[in-house]
Amino acid sequence: MAKLKNDTLIRALLRQPTEYTPVWLMRQAGRYLPEYNQTRSRAGSFLGLCKNPGYATEVTLQPLARFELDAAILFSDILTVPDAMGLGLYFAEGEGPKFERPLRDEWAIRDLAVPDPGAELRYVLDAVSEIRRALGGSVPLIGFAGSPYTLACYMVEGGASDDFRTVKTMLYARPDLLHRILEVTAQSVTHYLNAQIEAGAQAVMIFDTWGGNLSHAAYREFSLAYMQRIIAGLKREHAGARIPAVVFTKGCGNWLEDIAAIGCDAVGLDWSVDIAQARARIGSRVALQGNLDPAVLFAPPEVVQREAEKILAAFGHGSGHVFNLGHGISQFTPAEAVKNLVDCVHRSSLRYHGGSADSRAS
Ligand code: CP3
Repeated sequence: MAKLKNDTLIRALLRQPTEYTPVWLMRQAGRYLPEYNQTRSRAGSFLGLCKNPGYATEVTLQPLARFELDAAILFSDILTVPDAMGLGLYFAEGEGPKFERPLRDEWAIRDLAVPDPGAELRYVLDAVSEIRRALGGSVPLIGFAGSPYTLACYMVEGGASDDFRTVKTMLYARPDLLHRILEVTAQSVTHYLNAQIEAGAQAVMIFDTWGGNLSHAAYREFSLAYMQRIIAGLKREHAGARIPAVVFTKGCGNWLEDIAAIGCDAVGLDWSVDIAQARARIGSRVALQGNLDPAVLFAPPEVVQREAEKILAAFGHGSGHVFNLGHGISQFTPAEAVKNLVDCVHRSSLRYHGGSADSRAS
């Protein structure tokens, strides 16, 4: 396989020395970019973008044309997997994602089957190959999927929810049904991520957006255990290269040690975590990704720089940090703030890397 021109992200995820701290942003392709909105209107809808590999490639590359990002992330959505399971994903204007057939009946849950990524999710794999070709080895491509619990939240609720009443009722009243959903979904995600890796994804990330809403015990049983199974089933090497895996649970602060123990290479941190403490707790076992509050990007440039520098300083010297936001970028973010952030991370992180500093940290 052709060598990457910029493999800083991969090295940082594997806690190998780098010259600076690599940076990419969750939801880096999206509505805050006018060119995204233009492509989206040509495609007709968000799903129209996701399901057309040409459009998906175009929007994946848009943020890289503007900013010196160290990675591309596949343009898609975590909900393509339940869609491929037959739930009928659609986006009601201004209301977020919804399913035509939410999982409520015992028989529908018993009938749930693992989709073949090469068939029902072919369009995603085609996008992965096309993006890799278009990137031409410049930066790595990150593939992703939702965690089984986060997917189950949408599958059972039928869309977004304030209180997750339906899925939590199932968790406590009929845990057997929720376990069945999680089991099938974990297998689906494992096959899907492996198919992305075979199509060319060079790192993978699991998004567990809603795991943080679970009780301490329920998080392990209903979210972490299934992510652990996925990690155990992933291809960790492809075409001679290590494929690092990142696990991100929003609201993970209580469970850092548990997440670091499931076999992932890196743990994503939301902005409520002190990254210095996170490094002290798990930094000898995994890399850390995060964790600027996305709202910082609404502030004046000098504040963005100061807040970014605080995170770099809190992580300190040495490898194993991938700079990112603590959650997805807001659609109201000014694009200049992103440029300012990316340039600042590159410039200000130089002093935390290099010879003596790296050997001190290792
Ligand atoms: O990071 C990237 O640039 C890759 C693209 C990406 C999208 N969704 C594109 C998207 C990724 C990694 C996701 C993951 C995703 N999708 C998650 C997990 C991460 C997170 O944000 O917590 C979740 C929970 C979803 C489900 C989802 N998709 C929701 C709740 C929404 C609506 C919310 C919103 O921002 O409007 C989406 C739609 C969506 N996914 C958009 C984008 C760019 C906006 C769609 C549009 O153009 O209207």
